[in-house]
Amino acid sequence: MRPSAELHSQFGDLDIYLFDQIQRGRFDERRRILDAGCGGGRNLPYFLSHGFDVRVADADAAAVGAVRRLAAAMGASLPDDHCYCGPLDVLPWADRSVDAVICSAVLHFARDEHDFAAMLREMWRVLAPGGLFFARLATSIGLERHLAAPVGRMRLPDGSDRFVVDEATLLRWTATLGGTLADPIKTTNVQNLRCMTTWVLAR
Ligand SMILES: C[S@@+](CC[C@H](N)C(=O)[O-])C[C@H]1O[C@@H](n2cnc3c(N)ncnc32)[C@H](O)[C@@H]1O
Repeated sequence: MRPSAELHSQFGDLDIYLFDQIQRGRFDERRRILDAGCGGGRNLPYFLSHGFDVRVADADAAAVGAVRRLAAAMGASLPDDHCYCGPLDVLPWADRSVDAVICSAVLHFARDEHDFAAMLREMWRVLAPGGLFFARLATSIGLERHLAAPVGRMRLPDGSDRFVVDEATLLRWTATLGGTLADPIKTTNVQNLRCMTTWVLAR
């Protein structure tokens, strides 16, 4: 089998920064995971095929449906009450009920700072002590001279409209939530068109 096909068969289109977290043991003891803003479930094949207790949430019914079909096709367990179609600021699960929240390429769709805050607080609410919060989001970090402001909803040089934050905002939220940085904040600058930041917190 080609190397690319072999990796794909195990990991699907798993985000490379999430792969890094798995490889470094961050999911060794964290078995109850929530993919918040799961989309079509590109980050889920590994977790579904390895017995993780998976929950998914997305505002888009088609996305949740696609993940249900993915799980069914894999013969993986994904109970109805683990699938939620709705906004991330009102999740149906109990406080401290998951060991990890994955929020990949979602927070930059926040309408404004209030929406950003509400989603964050809600995802944090369902995260158990000792849990991991993994987020990838568009930020202004490294792109300051190309943007109108460091925080807010704006057009990025790649032409997309996103809600972006800066490093100070991420550090302020880290403290406000009572989390600690599991890794230094890392940002990938895509040729000054957009910057994607990996923000990982331990609760
Ligand atoms: C770019 S996709 C990312 C999907 C997946 N996490 C990934 O990394 O491929 C963003 C997803 O977030 C969902 N989304 C955006 N804002 C949301 C919100 N406020 N509440 C729930 N889902 C939201 C969208 O419906 C979409 O499926």
